Amino acid sequence: MTPAQGKLDLREGFDEAGAIKDDFRRAVLEGLGQRPKWIPCKYLYDARGSALFEEICKLDEYYPTRTELALLHRHSDEIASLVGPNANVIEFGSGSSRKIRILLDTFEKPAAYVSVDISREHLLQEAQRLAVDYDGLSVIPIHADYTQGLEFPASVFESPRVGFFPGSNIGNFAPADAFRFLQELSRSMGEKSGFLVGVDLKKDERILAAAYNDARGITAAFNTNLLVRINRELAGDFDLAGFVHEAPYNAEKGRIEMHLKSVRPQTVRVEGHRFAFAEGETIHTESSYKYAADEFQALAEDAGWRPVACWQDPNRLFSLHYLETA
Ligand code: TRP
Repeated sequence: MTPAQGKLDLREGFDEAGAIKDDFRRAVLEGLGQRPKWIPCKYLYDARGSALFEEICKLDEYYPTRTELALLHRHSDEIASLVGPNANVIEFGSGSSRKIRILLDTFEKPAAYVSVDISREHLLQEAQRLAVDYDGLSVIPIHADYTQGLEFPASVFESPRVGFFPGSNIGNFAPADAFRFLQELSRSMGEKSGFLVGVDLKKDERILAAAYNDARGITAAFNTNLLVRINRELAGDFDLAGFVHEAPYNAEKGRIEMHLKSVRPQTVRVEGHRFAFAEGETIHTESSYKYAADEFQALAEDAGWRPVACWQDPNRLFSLHYLETA
């Protein structure tokens, strides 16, 4: 007997890859022309980048993933009762679906799972698996860049909505952009929506430094993969031996900064454009902002969300917030 399954719903407009690729070209040429040089972190997640990120999540030093998983396990009943029955669950940057499964397993008859992700292969694979494993669930993958505005299929508004944004990806926005994202989200999700968001906490700088500079060099490979991607997709000639990974904590700004640092003076070509690097000059590839729990709640409140619950692990490494629209 074939098991009953949910349904995989590939809507028109699922595939926006063309637009995403063109964005990459523009972002790289623009960012390398600026001082300091920078490239938005979303471009780290091509197929290899996504796979390397999965490896990062398993590292001893990288506490956020396992701490957030433990929080989800410990509080899933409470979360489920806040969310209620028949919810449409919308995840931003779904990556691997380990975390969402904890929620889908405890929610009462979730109606649909909408996953928005920039990494196409990953998105499709996980969506297919979920549709097979969850009877009666409608799975709607949307290949899109959630930093470029949010539009949901109309069916999403037929039952209560809960957003899910784990992994402290909210910390990869600058605070002003996090504010705009939260505000836009409260508007587009509408009245009586819930939002479950994982936020990494400010803490001892040594713990932070270790998490972003792991001993096996997986984070370094993940960062450097951006140059591999530029070489492949944009006819770049980056010498991979000419750049090193660096991830210092900027205490004043409350953020880890990820950089690729040029070890010598050099000129790099990308799609025929030349970019000069001084020795020690960097490309800023990511920021990961850390918040105190009440600092984040204040930001969310200003953006139109009411803080309902905040869970933290005993060591206060990570926080999970449940918010509702007014
Ligand atoms: N959201 C993750 C974080 O800020 C992303 C991340 C972890 C990351 N390690 C990274 C991004 C290394 C780029 C490079 O913790």
